[in-house]
Amino acid sequence: MNTFAGRSVLVTGASSGLGAAAVRRFAAAGGLVHAASRDQEKLAEVAASCADLPGEVRFGPLDVTSAADCRAAVATTVDAYGRLDVLVNNAGRHDFRVTTDVTEEQWDADIALNLSGAFHLSQAAIPHLLETGGNIVNVASVAGVMGEAYSAAYTAAKHGIVGLTKALAIEYLDTPLRVNCICPGGMDTPQAQTISVPDSADWELIMRVAAKRGLMDADSVAAVITFLASDEASSIHGSIQMVDLGHLAG
Ligand SMILES: NC(=O)c1ccc[n+]([C@@H]2O[C@H](COP(=O)([O-])OP(=O)(O)OC[C@H]3O[C@@H](n4cnc5c(N)ncnc54)[C@H](O)[C@@H]3O)[C@@H](O)[C@H]2O)c1
Repeated sequence: MNTFAGRSVLVTGASSGLGAAAVRRFAAAGGLVHAASRDQEKLAEVAASCADLPGEVRFGPLDVTSAADCRAAVATTVDAYGRLDVLVNNAGRHDFRVTTDVTEEQWDADIALNLSGAFHLSQAAIPHLLETGGNIVNVASVAGVMGEAYSAAYTAAKHGIVGLTKALAIEYLDTPLRVNCICPGGMDTPQAQTISVPDSADWELIMRVAAKRGLMDADSVAAVITFLASDEASSIHGSIQMVDLGHLAG
């Protein structure tokens, strides 16, 4: 059964979109959730929306571009619930930029947000996950396995998330720790609604990666996260799961 009763779950980027949907799914399955992100007001709304669910939702600040923040979020979760069973590395942001216009600062910021944060959180979480036989679910993107125009840093970072998943899966092969990754296609979230596109962009290049079946509901993708994090997925380790309405099927 897909239950998280008594299990502690840290979800990053939990204030909206997929992260918020994952928080609700874990709480609905009885999980003890720490919802972490930058926007405390929105996190409070997410926690309030879970008030009637069987699990518990606490929340707190996290900027994944800070390694110290990543360590603190893991420590806060363990302090609150006495254990850590699941880490969901979900925080991320995609903006289209013409490669020759990208500044050094933008490149570094994109990599820090979309890749390094997941490493620092995993590094801090692994000792606790080894104690509980827990697992990590990373959120990459279809951009983790294919190229996207005007997205050099985002695509490189999401390929990095796929690589991080595989590297940890092998490094911890002899332990109970599981590490998996999902690669969503387009979801109808604030990210999709606020993405910036340069004036000079060629829309045909951008639309090459648009899914023919439209945007997915974040909750349907969150269901895959909770499945991979559950005991029902006990045989799944080091897996890169496409969740893209068949976009990359061929
Ligand atoms: N929406 C899509 O079409 C789509 C497609 C593929 C992959 N993804 C990935 O899914 C994940 C969730 O995206 P979403 O669509 O729900 O977007 P969203 O904008 O709704 O949510 C992103 C979350 O990340 C948080 N965040 C941003 N910067 C942060 C930082 N520095 N520190 C901590 N938290 C930060 C935001 O506050 C928010 O809670 C991201 O990793 C994104 O790259 C999204």
